[in-house]
Amino acid sequence: MDPHGRQAPVLCIGRCNRAHVTYPKSEQRIPIRLLRGKQRAETYEQMVLRTLECLEQVDTLAVAYYGHPGFFVSPSHRAIRIARERGHEAFMLPSVSSFDCLLADLGLNVASGCQIFEATDLMIRERSIDVCSHVIVMQVSSLGDFGYSFAGFDHRNLASLREYLRKYYPDDFVVTAYYASQFSVAKPRVDQLKVAELTLENVKSIATLYVPPLRTATLHLRRLKEYGIEEKLLQNKTLVPLNVKSEDELIG
Ligand SMILES: C[S@@+](CC[C@H](N)C(=O)[O-])C[C@H]1O[C@@H](n2cnc3c(N)ncnc32)[C@H](O)[C@@H]1O
Repeated sequence: MDPHGRQAPVLCIGRCNRAHVTYPKSEQRIPIRLLRGKQRAETYEQMVLRTLECLEQVDTLAVAYYGHPGFFVSPSHRAIRIARERGHEAFMLPSVSSFDCLLADLGLNVASGCQIFEATDLMIRERSIDVCSHVIVMQVSSLGDFGYSFAGFDHRNLASLREYLRKYYPDDFVVTAYYASQFSVAKPRVDQLKVAELTLENVKSIATLYVPPLRTATLHLRRLKEYGIEEKLLQNKTLVPLNVKSEDELIG
């Protein structure tokens, strides 16, 4: 719940105070050595089971995850679903995710659209990237790696992501390897590098990759006319003839 060095939202603190939080005793924790060499899915299932086990022992249980408990996190959602099926009142409180920190630290307003991908999902499904959108790639370090490493992932498949991005962006297009600060007194780390420089040396373990829009999306004249907003939107714009079926369909 200490969300990337930011203060936990007041709502969460209030609810947790009411929940009379007690921290698990050392023998109740899952030792790190048991997580080594395991598939993450197995560990996540263990987290769900431990949550449900604890729920049977207390009146009110609060479970803390880092960042937003539901953003790129599966055991929280699963534990809540099963708890509800078992008749408990269970809910999730939102918190500050690494995505929220990225928006604030990089000064982004993603109104032109934003695609958020999980790195492995992006690659194994060869998902289509919309270069007119802001693109955020999570879990770059564990691309193609379902294991767990307390010391940090080894980015073994980063080169394949670089090659995939090169299909969409020029080699010298500047992207950001972003590291939100984990302490309120520290600054975030923001490394700007070219697509071709996405190498093991340049991208560290917890990074989220941010790719800005390559260009703005095309406007459809037909829609502008339909909404009666063409005059306003076309001011100071240059019409670019495009090879489309209807002449007045698109402008750049
Ligand atoms: C399993 S997800 C958990 C996300 C977390 N629930 C959140 O709200 O940010 C882990 C991924 O979140 C991103 N992440 C987590 N901590 C980060 C940080 N300090 N800086 C940048 N990205 C971070 C990375 O993409 C990392 O691979």
